[in-house]
Amino acid sequence: MNLATVPLLVIATHAAVEQPPDPAIDFRTDVLPILQTFCHQCHYGLRTKGRLGLDSREAMLKGGRSGPAIIPGDPDGSLLIQRVTTRDPQDMMPPKDGPLWKVEIDILREWIRQGAPWPEDPDDQR
Ligand code: HEC
Repeated sequence: MNLATVPLLVIATHAAVEQPPDPAIDFRTDVLPILQTFCHQCHYGLRTKGRLGLDSREAMLKGGRSGPAIIPGDPDGSLLIQRVTTRDPQDMMPPKDGPLWKVEIDILREWIRQGAPWPEDPDDQR
């Protein structure tokens, strides 16, 4: 990846998560920023590429064209993890800004392993 072409926002986000993930993943500070930065532009609200929304736990469990995106407790069995870790450029998510950094993938993986907890109101940023 040519860093010169990476938007500044992405660099800022990457810098913020450079530390190894804490064993206790916090949805709002660890997981949500990754989804917002790399996924929501295509999987949020009415924008459901692949018929998949990534804006609620319910939407992830329901999944898209291929079925559930996450299986709580089973990151390797979760389509979301498969699509961010694949080496096939046709399948890779996010399509253009990928692959995610390993630390980001580890956060998503650990979050799913812990059962993918999702606070009642993820838009409440207080
Ligand atoms: C630029 C738009 C775009 C972004 C950003 C994006 N996706 Fe996608 N995504 C798509 C499109 C288009 C499809 C449908 C085609 C396909 O399956 O490859 C898709 C499909 C998927 C699927 C398969 C859905 C199904 O049931 O078949 C998953 C899982 C997925 N995306 C996860 C993610 C994740 C996780 C992120 C963020 C890390 C992300 N996507 C970011 C465009 C995007």
